[in-house]
Amino acid sequence: MNVAERFRILARPRRLRATAAIRALVRETRVNREGLVQPLFVVDGSDVVQPIGSMPGVNRFSVDRIVAECRELDALGVRAVLLFGIPDAKGKDAFASVNYDPNGIVQRAARAIKEALPQLLVIADLCNCEYTDHGHCGILDPSGDVDNDRTLEVLAKTALTYARAGVDIIAPSDMMDGRVAAIRAALDEDGFTKVAILSYAAKYASAFYGPFREAADSTPAFGDRRTYQMDPANGREALREVRLDIEEGADIVMVKPAMAYLDVVREVRAITDLPVAVYHVSGEYAMLKAAAERGWIDEDRAVDESLIAMARAGADIIITYFAKDYARRHRG
Ligand code: PBG
Repeated sequence: MNVAERFRILARPRRLRATAAIRALVRETRVNREGLVQPLFVVDGSDVVQPIGSMPGVNRFSVDRIVAECRELDALGVRAVLLFGIPDAKGKDAFASVNYDPNGIVQRAARAIKEALPQLLVIADLCNCEYTDHGHCGILDPSGDVDNDRTLEVLAKTALTYARAGVDIIAPSDMMDGRVAAIRAALDEDGFTKVAILSYAAKYASAFYGPFREAADSTPAFGDRRTYQMDPANGREALREVRLDIEEGADIVMVKPAMAYLDVVREVRAITDLPVAVYHVSGEYAMLKAAAERGWIDEDRAVDESLIAMARAGADIIITYFAKDYARRHRG
């Protein structure tokens, strides 16, 4: 009796792992390169390319240089960018007024990009934390908490200025209640029925946003974001948030961050037919970069494995600071 007979080995899954060709043949998940989104930070000035210390390889660009960056992304096959405006600190106030300036940083960047590259999708993150002097995501009430409904007015007003500048998709990341409905109504009333809303539906109060806050200069001056962003312990609540945003008219729903929340991505995938996006955030980028810099992990393989895990969990769209690099390494 040979070993197979003795131990009754009937199934041999290794057969389908024997060569690269057979592994490719049976591969269940692929990262959709056309579903990658590159976040970009825009600053005032001209000819500015400013590295971000905690995010090696990521820069802040002035409007002129962001157009050049977008040309490179477009040539590599990246179809969409997500804009974050970082206004000069001098312009910030308690009401985020510079956010709805028709000549604000995001509005100028969007106009310049759409003029140069009309085919590139421009998504604009919509939040107030980069524009308020206190660094919170909305207008404060006298107690220092964010006033939900007053913030909705600012968000709706700002969304309109983004749409007028040519932004294709508005992506509210503030986590106020009712913001999708408020933004949808404002857009529709002004005739922007074609501008889509990608809502940061389940956005957690996460330590993984650390490097972003350095990049965007948006750390709250006091307190934290736990009265509006979600508690990391809550999975069911994410589904509630997602359902509410869908009812309010979201076109795409997002879970953020990615790696520590793939169970949430999976569950969101199961309750909606809408496209699901996931945000591979700054701290996740920084961790991979830092470990790779020390030679502790193989960066390319760790990045590919991370993105495939997001796709396997059910994400159709992946927002990642690695988008450009990924597109370059996997040119079709
Ligand atoms: C704005 C916003 C944040 C991120 C995206 N939009 C920061 C925050 O909520 O504090 C984080 C993105 C990242 O970490 O890459 N509210």
